[in-house]
Amino acid sequence: MRVHGPATLDRMDSHVIRSQLICARYDHDYPMLVSGEGSMLRDAEGRSYIDASGCTAAVTAIGHGVKEVADALAEQATRLAVHPTHLFHNETLERYLTRLCAFAPDGFNHAWTISGGTEAIENACKLAFQYHQAKGQPRHRLLGRWGSYHGNSILALDVGGMKARRDFYTPLMVDHLHLSPCFAYRRPEGLSVEAYEDGLVAELEQTLDAHRGEVAAFVAEPIVGAALGAVGPTPRYFERMATVCRAHDVLMIADEVMTGLGRTGKAFGCEHFGTHADILACAKGITGGYLPMGAIIAHDRVLDPIVQSGDPFWSGQTYSCIPLAAAVGDAVLKYIEDHDLVARAATMGEHLRTGLCSLLDLPWVGDVRGAGLFLGVEFVADRATKAPFRPERGFAKRVEAEALRRGVVTYACRGTVDLTAGDHMLFAPPLVLTEAEADRIVEVMREAITAAAS
Ligand SMILES: Cc1ncc(COP(=O)(O)O)c(C=O)c1O
Repeated sequence: MRVHGPATLDRMDSHVIRSQLICARYDHDYPMLVSGEGSMLRDAEGRSYIDASGCTAAVTAIGHGVKEVADALAEQATRLAVHPTHLFHNETLERYLTRLCAFAPDGFNHAWTISGGTEAIENACKLAFQYHQAKGQPRHRLLGRWGSYHGNSILALDVGGMKARRDFYTPLMVDHLHLSPCFAYRRPEGLSVEAYEDGLVAELEQTLDAHRGEVAAFVAEPIVGAALGAVGPTPRYFERMATVCRAHDVLMIADEVMTGLGRTGKAFGCEHFGTHADILACAKGITGGYLPMGAIIAHDRVLDPIVQSGDPFWSGQTYSCIPLAAAVGDAVLKYIEDHDLVARAATMGEHLRTGLCSLLDLPWVGDVRGAGLFLGVEFVADRATKAPFRPERGFAKRVEAEALRRGVVTYACRGTVDLTAGDHMLFAPPLVLTEAEADRIVEVMREAITAAAS
């Protein structure tokens, strides 16, 4: 029997469960996970795995099984899980939002919580829209980049540029604008990095000139995650893009859903690149997976005209701003601060990166990139020409399966080259990863890549 739809207890057969797994295959038996501790996961057969991807990707920030978070959750659940937001403030929420703003760069003094990353992006875009409305210059377009992922709602897919997830839904989209990704490894043959960067900045200038007064915000991941595999920008890309955006009063939204909360070795990914965005959209590591929650953090310059207009931010859902999620977020952020996990992401990330770079002696490893514990490996069929494997070969998926057999959970992705072909893998383990675990990941990757290629 194959049952789809909401799972109720009596209908919860294995097909329902499988249909809820991302990319689930009906003909495949998945191991049953039962517990986790630190960077390790354990299945029902007693096998252990290193969580090298951070639970699909970049979620498990502080590791599994942290008692302080469980205690904070239980304490808040018994005290006050939810509150009537139309009439009351809440002390847990206030404390948390204050801590979150203090963790953000200077001037980011306004924050809201919502249920996840997609909603963080939607809310960031709405806030940018309202900023222009409040200034009396309504703008209706958003600008994203191909080869980026911003979430799975129609608006987030539309602004995003991940072809594999986007194409199916294009009839429902309004077709927001897109720029080329900034992907130096795959820049046109013979072009210097400087000339490549010049071209990308010129593309932005041309786009904003062609749509003068229409674009509310430019949305970008500081380091592109699953879509391209930890691809960072060229040296002055964001600084120069910000200058052009500011000249056109286009707000910059940093999608920090993966890169925020210390993952890249700085509090927020955009802090690596000599400029700050106007709005930070966060999720995943913000609760480290202990509860669904996302947040947006906005700079004073975004809120000033809205506050002057006298209007509230026109947003809000049932699970915006709930004390229970705030208690978890607060416990997770306190854990990050108390254990100095931002600095640890930088040092352990360097260690893991050095290890992954040692794989460049394998002919199928084309590039190793990223920052902190947010790293990517791109696979190629031919290193000299950077030609990808044929898509039907499913190379990254094979590596993922071989690594799993050896006790390491990785995250295989595709679409690295021209958004359809190309294989890469994203590494985003918990920030508490140990040196021995990092070394084991590298050892297993060498075996898994070799096995997949043979
Ligand atoms: C960069 C980025 N933005 C947004 C999202 C959407 O977040 P969520 O899945 O929590 O809705 C994701 C999810 O993977 C992401 O990687």
